[in-house]
Amino acid sequence: MIPAETNGEKRVFLETFGFQMNESDSERILGLLKDINYVRTEEPAGADLIIINTCSVRDKAEQKVYSALGRYRGLKAENPGLIIGVSGCVAQQVGARLLKRVPYLDIVFGPQNIHKLKDLLDEVSLNRSRVAAVEQNASIDEGEYGYTEPGGSKAYVSIMRGCDNFCSYCIVPFTRGREVSRKSPEIIEEITRLAGAGVKEVILLGQNVNSYGTGGQGDISFTGLLKKVSKINGIKRIRFVTSHPKDISDELIYLFNDEPRLCRHLHLPVQSGSDGILKNMRRGYTASEYMSKVSLLKKLYPDMAITSDIIVGFPGETESDFEDTMRLIKEVRFDNIFSFMYSPRPDTKAAKFDGQLPLEVRSERLKVLQEAQREISIGRNRELLGRTVEVFIEGPSKADPSERYGRTSCNRIINFPAAGTESSLVSTGCIIDVTITEVFPNSLRGMVP
Ligand code: 5AD
Ligand code: SF4
Repeated sequence: MIPAETNGEKRVFLETFGFQMNESDSERILGLLKDINYVRTEEPAGADLIIINTCSVRDKAEQKVYSALGRYRGLKAENPGLIIGVSGCVAQQVGARLLKRVPYLDIVFGPQNIHKLKDLLDEVSLNRSRVAAVEQNASIDEGEYGYTEPGGSKAYVSIMRGCDNFCSYCIVPFTRGREVSRKSPEIIEEITRLAGAGVKEVILLGQNVNSYGTGGQGDISFTGLLKKVSKINGIKRIRFVTSHPKDISDELIYLFNDEPRLCRHLHLPVQSGSDGILKNMRRGYTASEYMSKVSLLKKLYPDMAITSDIIVGFPGETESDFEDTMRLIKEVRFDNIFSFMYSPRPDTKAAKFDGQLPLEVRSERLKVLQEAQREISIGRNRELLGRTVEVFIEGPSKADPSERYGRTSCNRIINFPAAGTESSLVSTGCIIDVTITEVFPNSLRGMVP
């Protein structure tokens, strides 16, 4: 190991593509780098290390990485000591070929190799070598997790890694490997440490949290884990993603009743409303099985937000299949959805299916779906008008720093004026009652009553 620099800090510029799992990986990367004296900078110019943390779940991921790398080429020419790395799913998928293709790239490391970053940096700076670390392990290495750098009053915590579901369209089982659970004592220790550092909300992450504990080193069930997390001092809110409709248990559904710290929000990706398409996607449930879980949730918890992921234009999707999806979203009235055009991914079964649909059909269906959902989302938000809800304050509002923004238990972003309220009640990490006065498709506005 080289000693940490004594003459000041080094700067890392980290760019993240993708979703929560990638954000969480980035927090782990920053946590590790902090130990060896790196601080984050928002400016690539002047950085000593640039890392692009990538996602390849959808479209054109590889091209996006090449164009991002192109932006940093000139910086490397100006400063040959600059180290450039690519991490995440594209790194895993393309591996050492990335080094061949991009001569000024130094490090390529996959999601299972994040904890080796310090050694990889040593290799580059001491031996002037270029390195790729893309091994996949069947188990989780000692110390692979647990050094997450909290970004503020909330933190992502990975409770498992990988996925065994092999939905026919999805690249995740290839890039993140087989499903392995972390040991529960290690997770509890990490969250206890985060709570000690001021974290009040945790978001537990896994591709399929409902099967936590059934593989690898997992020792208790997911509901067992939630019960333990909810006893940690200082943790006021708990969220988790992603739930798989085929694995969500009644035990979990009923736990919301007993555990007020569990936020009233469930992200339950349905992907399609057509049984034929669901079968070809290998999702393991029918539309009516999905609907009965949703009906139970709505009956038990009328104030719970239910959100979903939907893919349109899957190979072979007919107009009538698409109408099934439209009918399903109108029947459920999701609070929000993430919707995507199907995109063929390398290694996946669906990429070789007959009936691949032209871009125009996929994009037209996406437009129709998103317009319908926009109306539904506004309608769902309108139902909240006039209600007073608990808001977890995440910081000063972006547009007007005299205001605050935060999140309701049902996962709505809400802005509200803070002037006139005692500052200790409206600091980041506080929970405060706010009355909802105005609604937009993607956020709310309110006032402290
Ligand atoms: N094409 C489009 N969307 C996809 N997703 C995953 N793979 C693909 C793909 N090949 C979406 C799914 C998943 C979300 C994270 O990304 O909806 O739930
Ligand atoms: Fe991909 Fe399916 Fe696993 Fe989700 S459950 S990560 S969609 S394979």
